[in-house]
Amino acid sequence: MEPKTSAQVCGMGHSMKRKEDPRFIRGRGNYVDDIQLPGMLHMDIVRSPFAHAKIKSINADKALKVPGVLAVITGETLAKYNLHWMPTLMSDTQMVLPTEKVMYQAQEVAAVIATDRYAAADGVEAVEVDYDPLPVVVDPFKALLPGAPILRTDKKDKKDNRIFHWEAGDRAATDQAFAQADVVVKQDMYIPRIHVASIETCGCVADFDRVTGKLTVYMTTQAPHAIRTVFALVAGHVGLSEEKIRIVSPDIGGGFGGKVPVYPGYVIAVAASVVIGKPVKWVEDRMENLQADSFARDYHIHAELAAKRDGTMTALKIKTIADHGYTDAAANPSKFPAGLYSIVTGSYDLKRAFAEVDGVYTNKPPGGIAYRCSFRVTEAVHCIERITDVLAQELKMDPAELRMKNFIPKEKFPYKSVLGWEYDSGDYATCLQKAMDKIGYAELRKEQAEKRARGELMGIGISSFTEIVGAGPSKQFDILGIKMFDSAEIRVHPTGKVLARFGTKSQGQGHETTYAQIVAEELGIPAAHVQVEEGDTDTAPYGLGTYASRSTPTSGAAAAVASRKIREKAKKIAAHLLECSEDDLVWETGKFSVKGSPQRSKTIQDIALAAYTNHPQGMEPGLEATSYYDPPNLTFPFGSYICVVDIDRGTGMVKVRRFVAVDDCGNIINPMIVDGQIHGGLAMGLAPALLEEISYDEDGNVQGGSFMDYLVPTSMETPSWELDKTITPSPHHPFGAKGVGESATVGAPPAIVNAVVDALAHLGVKHVEIPITPERVWKILKEKGVAE
Ligand code: CDP
Repeated sequence: MEPKTSAQVCGMGHSMKRKEDPRFIRGRGNYVDDIQLPGMLHMDIVRSPFAHAKIKSINADKALKVPGVLAVITGETLAKYNLHWMPTLMSDTQMVLPTEKVMYQAQEVAAVIATDRYAAADGVEAVEVDYDPLPVVVDPFKALLPGAPILRTDKKDKKDNRIFHWEAGDRAATDQAFAQADVVVKQDMYIPRIHVASIETCGCVADFDRVTGKLTVYMTTQAPHAIRTVFALVAGHVGLSEEKIRIVSPDIGGGFGGKVPVYPGYVIAVAASVVIGKPVKWVEDRMENLQADSFARDYHIHAELAAKRDGTMTALKIKTIADHGYTDAAANPSKFPAGLYSIVTGSYDLKRAFAEVDGVYTNKPPGGIAYRCSFRVTEAVHCIERITDVLAQELKMDPAELRMKNFIPKEKFPYKSVLGWEYDSGDYATCLQKAMDKIGYAELRKEQAEKRARGELMGIGISSFTEIVGAGPSKQFDILGIKMFDSAEIRVHPTGKVLARFGTKSQGQGHETTYAQIVAEELGIPAAHVQVEEGDTDTAPYGLGTYASRSTPTSGAAAAVASRKIREKAKKIAAHLLECSEDDLVWETGKFSVKGSPQRSKTIQDIALAAYTNHPQGMEPGLEATSYYDPPNLTFPFGSYICVVDIDRGTGMVKVRRFVAVDDCGNIINPMIVDGQIHGGLAMGLAPALLEEISYDEDGNVQGGSFMDYLVPTSMETPSWELDKTITPSPHHPFGAKGVGESATVGAPPAIVNAVVDALAHLGVKHVEIPITPERVWKILKEKGVAE
């Protein structure tokens, strides 16, 4: 689509270079760890070596003798203020610091406050904790067995380890469809526990000013306003009321959902600052980040798909065990304990479906965050895209043909899915066809047949996913009761320059650029003249923050709505200046002119000046507007990915030879940024498919708790991505955009797995669990007698 604005205005559709990059690439970003305040103290945390143990005693005597150590904070210290437990986003409870027992390895046990970071670390080494180990529950299936140790002994009425049972769809109707099916395929699949590995770990500087009674917290949070409200709710009883709390999210080096929750470290640092009256900095290290912060995924899925012999899918049945660790600290909207997992019918016109999830406590870190994913969509997409290929294999049908046959036809949009969502728009067949043409699908199938005849292992995998992003319509979505909308506040200065503030918070997505482009598109003011600010609760309008690709669908929409309000007022001012009726005015980017007399016109800059110097009498001066945008629906971006892999028979190594990604996120604000989002997302999709996993041994010891064994992809493992797009605008979004930030992370893993299974299908392989490590593949090759 050709941009409507000039390169100078740089509205939508221009690949404007990111305004934030000059400071980032010069090392001039301002991250939490860059913040230095006078008299600032440092905090470090004592962590548990055991996954489940009683705390018999904590002795801080030696630690307090370490030069520079000022205080050791324990659960008992916090209990005096009733701050030793805190609520989670899912209305469960989480220990800030324990008073009785620890529930996972690396759990916070005590905090040391010192004059510098090194002294704090020495203090941590010197704290003596006496533990009494308890039986450890690692396996969520065993956790549900009768007789399993009950983990949450703090909950007096809790008699088992089940957190919740959630279901969607019609079980009886689905069972009936299965009974009538020609073909039924079944597959178990595990989406392992993984972890966000942002460049920047989590941290904060808590600064309580005893004179003003105001608490300022600079922190790595994706949702500063929600955090302020939660802090006020949790600590209101000790005098921290909301107007006395300021949360500042400075630059953030990657969030991906991992910087949504409130971690104990933040709360302890705040408590320490309030008690000591000095600023306290806490920045976790890499291992703490991987081992103790909220995890993602960990879904054990059993999927069944019913179909007619001709390949028409008729019903889907899903049963899932979700391992949530010791508390349910998932970062989901409140009414959705299994997130948006009910998008699991995917891109297919399924008439019957039933899905159920049981959340389970184990001795692992809590979480279940939306790691570059709209609340469990990655798990849903993996499930449906994998089981679709299992069906194709069973029917001996080409997986592309099977998808084409079952796609929701484009005429059926808006489409009401059997599990309750209304998909806004889609054109799946065009998207898959484009991917097939780009990669040369028919030729690849021929090449594969030739290679197979020679004993070479090559596979082609497809994923045609549908996403669900932009939480959300407030009628469905809230976080602890706070409705999910988002905001923009736009102020045009007298000289026609703009300050625009938002309730979201970029963590690298480029909001300073793209929000400016939206304002430029709507008002004709050059994007270069639009200053975008986010992340300071003292100045930004209230919003729910940035995660789950919600910024464009919510705050992006608010930017357009607020700009349009400004344009309405600008029109009145223009009519006053041009001494004509508003009805006689026409708008073209950046100016109003009189119909039929284009030489009689006023630019938005003329109008801005007049708003402060020559406004019509009776009108309020100034030119600004705010929008709190409550979207009428979510947006449903989609894509078709095709992956080609070659497998080395000697080592089991999977090489992604080609990867074509055709994405559709509706109208695009900045094509270069969207491509960048997809590149990053694809790398993060390849990661769990081939490399990343956090597992635990039977004693609950974490495996994969450092970058030595938690393998993030580098440029060596990632192929050269081949991107393309289709554009199917959202009918309800003010400028037809859908979110895109996470599409690729969600869509990529099943394309890779399907390619690997496709390479091995002739050997009788139906499924391979992720991460598809060389060892895992080599074992299969050995078992099938084809290892070299
Ligand atoms: O919420 P988050 O910013 O992570 O996700 P998003 O709304 O999908 O946006 C990611 C980045 O892509 C932002 O800079 C958006 O402005 C940009 N984007 C775009 O240029 N066009 C779209 N249709 C969607 C997003």
